Amino acid sequence: MLKERNIAGIIFDLDGVICSTDEYHYLAWKFMADELGARFDRTINERLRGVSRMECLEIVLETYQGTLSPEEKQRYADKKNAAYQKHLLNMSPASLSEDVRHTLDTLRERGYRMAIGSSSKNTPLILKQIGLDRFFDAVADGNSITKSKPDPEVFLQAAEGLGLKPEQCLVIEDAEAGIEAAQKGGMMSAAIGYAAGLGLGDIQLQKLSDLLDCMRICAKL
Ligand code: BG6
Ligand code: MG
Repeated sequence: MLKERNIAGIIFDLDGVICSTDEYHYLAWKFMADELGARFDRTINERLRGVSRMECLEIVLETYQGTLSPEEKQRYADKKNAAYQKHLLNMSPASLSEDVRHTLDTLRERGYRMAIGSSSKNTPLILKQIGLDRFFDAVADGNSITKSKPDPEVFLQAAEGLGLKPEQCLVIEDAEAGIEAAQKGGMMSAAIGYAAGLGLGDIQLQKLSDLLDCMRICAKL
């Protein structure tokens, strides 16, 4: 299928694909939920993948007994983000796994255009922390979109930034909402992590470097 499409660009989700910031999101929401007395566990956490910060807060509040004003909600979202950013500030280029680094470098050598398509407003900070702020050909993120995944907006923006049509792009995602967004945008998708466990996407990856074999069939060698 990848061969038929002649894929020229790869759009990577960030949290849970390029780096393990999905775990930091979990820890920060857990801290917030505990303070609110809301029930929060790993199962609920999976629903937060790919969706915006405020939408995540609404999910976290599903088991909260009280009611919060819009201003209070904003305060909790800000507090969660402050807790999250403390983890981000401990990240460095060493936080990038060897598998991810090797995959990105090899795809670059093979001539693919590469973009980030993330719902996160922290994307610029994360890319800087891990030393990839100048690596990608395009970045679409929570700062440039009006609707988060499963809406395809972020991936369509990324494809446009790469100068490619959606059907020339492959999206790499760990979120159910992200795979849905890719499909809605007319793009092929490769699932990793949680989404791969659910058997979602056109192909499933155990680790990012599995992509290298999948792409080999359509590599411009
Ligand atoms: C996505 C995460 O990448 O970014 C979501 O999967 C998160 O869990 C969303 O809510 C927004 O992130 P941020 O950093 O803007 O709060
Ligand atoms: Mg993700």
